[in-house]
Amino acid sequence: MQDLDWWKRAVVYEVYPRSFQDSNGDGIGDLPGIVDRLDYLVALGVDALWVAPIYPSPMADFGYDVADYCGIDRIFGNMADFDLLLDQAHRRGLRLILDFVPNHTSEQHPWFLESRSSRDNRKRDWYIWRDQPNNWTSNFGGSAWEFDELTGQYYYHSFLKQQPDLNWRNPAVKAAMYDVLRFWLRKGVDGFRVDVMWMLIKDAEFRDNPINPGFHPGLSTNQRFLPLYNTNQPEVHTIVAEMRGVIDEFADRVLIGEIYLPLAQLMTYYGKDGKGANLPFNFQLLQCAWSADALAQAVGDYYRALPEGAWPNWVLGNHDQPRIASRIGKQQARVAAMLLLTLPGTLTVYYGEEIGMTNVPIAPEQVQDPAEKNEPGIGQGRDPERTPMCWDQTQRAGFTTGVPWLPLGEDAGSVNVAVEQQDSSSLLMLYRKLMALRKSHPIKNNPTLIGGKLDDLRVEKGVLRFRRSGLRSGPRSGPGSGDDQIEVILNTTQEEISVETPAARVLIGTRMDREGEIAGSLTLHPGEGLVLLTSSTGLAGQR
Ligand code: NOJ
Ligand code: CA
Repeated sequence: MQDLDWWKRAVVYEVYPRSFQDSNGDGIGDLPGIVDRLDYLVALGVDALWVAPIYPSPMADFGYDVADYCGIDRIFGNMADFDLLLDQAHRRGLRLILDFVPNHTSEQHPWFLESRSSRDNRKRDWYIWRDQPNNWTSNFGGSAWEFDELTGQYYYHSFLKQQPDLNWRNPAVKAAMYDVLRFWLRKGVDGFRVDVMWMLIKDAEFRDNPINPGFHPGLSTNQRFLPLYNTNQPEVHTIVAEMRGVIDEFADRVLIGEIYLPLAQLMTYYGKDGKGANLPFNFQLLQCAWSADALAQAVGDYYRALPEGAWPNWVLGNHDQPRIASRIGKQQARVAAMLLLTLPGTLTVYYGEEIGMTNVPIAPEQVQDPAEKNEPGIGQGRDPERTPMCWDQTQRAGFTTGVPWLPLGEDAGSVNVAVEQQDSSSLLMLYRKLMALRKSHPIKNNPTLIGGKLDDLRVEKGVLRFRRSGLRSGPRSGPGSGDDQIEVILNTTQEEISVETPAARVLIGTRMDREGEIAGSLTLHPGEGLVLLTSSTGLAGQR
């Protein structure tokens, strides 16, 4: 266990840079702002930051339309600011993961400007041009094909028309993009989260997608067809393996893939012999109904589906999904925190999740997200989960001195870092405790919760239960011997429920009022979760 790669032990914290901390009063978060908050992240107990795109961009999709892969957008600062962020993060023992957006560029990228300039331009084939469109649709609604007057052909865009897709069948594109990775890796970044990894390459014959029999009005037009030919093509695995090869030219880096696919397909992204993505993002918890049965099923199915040697990971939220505290409620958000932080493998926390930020309602005139603008009113917008981080009780929640680019939550006066730091039973304090437990139990560098087995996953009387057990590494008895077992008990209901436990000591409860209690039979409050220490050698003398 001591030898685990850093990213296997890591809690990764996603920073959406526009909304984390503004340093110059323009209402938009920036790199110096992130630097100012690094100590907060250290105190919280995270190990790595993943920062959503910070590259020069017209911001049609808020940075996911990249106009220069090797620069920094002025809105976020400059390269010196980036270098400082990287240095300051590393000095604190924090790793820095960048967002890599290889599927598409901005329409303003010089490569696309060249490509669209004439049919015989040497970069014409860097993008996907066709005489006729097929039925493929854009993720933001409507056809994925845009007619370009100048050269009389259509180009393909999986997202906005301002985001033309690169042609990953072209070796020159691959070479250029792998050099982008090397540029940042040489600077010392610790890895990448790869945007829409499963979409990178499309059917060579451009066959029409089949109709989705489940489509009904009220869904995005992107749901009309099943994405059989424009996503998850077999050839994508060669690209992922090549990206991994580039990552592996450098020591100690990580490749994470954003992939929304059913389990069986998701698992293929670990690659042949584990030489694909180190971590294909696992979005099971984002999509799962919040009941003990559904969670047991989702967690169990994922865990069982992992290929030999594959390292698990879990995600509760990101900048594209409704916030967990809105989805399941404030009380259950505590249960969710306990679940996340007691599961095996690498974890991702989305900024603000740790203080219980909720989706902020966005009035029509405040909408920023193009997904909402293109298809209004059907729940496509992602602004609600992208609102500014709430740091304190001041007027702008300590995020900015100016006008924030998205509104603050109405609860910013109570749901913020400063208030929760003063309250020993706050969600923030629960996150801190759980993260600390994760790292320390039972002995430093041999944490049951990170690398131990997950078993005995079951639902009893509507309560989700599972066991985490350590590796037998040390002497056969006593603390840290490896025979400690942790039992996690989560009441996902609104009812009081009595449960039986083995002789066990409460390490942490979601209400933070039971630590040290000896369990046996106990009554769980609605929405209460407990982490218990059980041991084959009894409880005496254990920490
Ligand atoms: C996935 C990103 O997470 C999302 O925010 C973005 O709009 C699309 N990819 C397009 O890059
Ligand atoms: Ca700013």
